[in-house]
Amino acid sequence: MKNLMINGELLEVDAHDNMPLLWALRDVLDMTGTKYGCGKGLCGACTVHVDGEAVRSCTIPISALEGKEITTIEGSAVNPILEKVQDAWYVTDVPQCGYCQSGQMMSAAALLAKNSNPSQDAIHSAMNGNLCRCGTYVRIRKAIRAAAD
Ligand code: FES
Repeated sequence: MKNLMINGELLEVDAHDNMPLLWALRDVLDMTGTKYGCGKGLCGACTVHVDGEAVRSCTIPISALEGKEITTIEGSAVNPILEKVQDAWYVTDVPQCGYCQSGQMMSAAALLAKNSNPSQDAIHSAMNGNLCRCGTYVRIRKAIRAAAD
């Protein structure tokens, strides 16, 4: 049992300490916006924020997260930059199948929180680990530019 601060709310998570955050979110808390892709930290589909950093939730046990601020794709009400990113994704019509897009948006929001007007190189570097099998990369970059200052 752990108490985790997720999207501004302290939530009781009834799960083994070793359970990765991704499974706690999806299977225990029924927060299914964060997606399972590879389960090995390689694809970025499960990206969330921990204390503002974009991290792969499939690789972090919940025991490492007490006292930290977790933000998921469901957290736009408490994260104005994430809300701006979601609006830009909608207006730019980014998704094709959509599966990887919550992770893409979480990486983009973490980037824009640190750098409100990133260069193409900075965007490339921040988004490099988020894979999209539909190849929506051009629209992803366009949406990030739209959400930038
Ligand atoms: Fe976590 Fe692929 S599911 S990086």
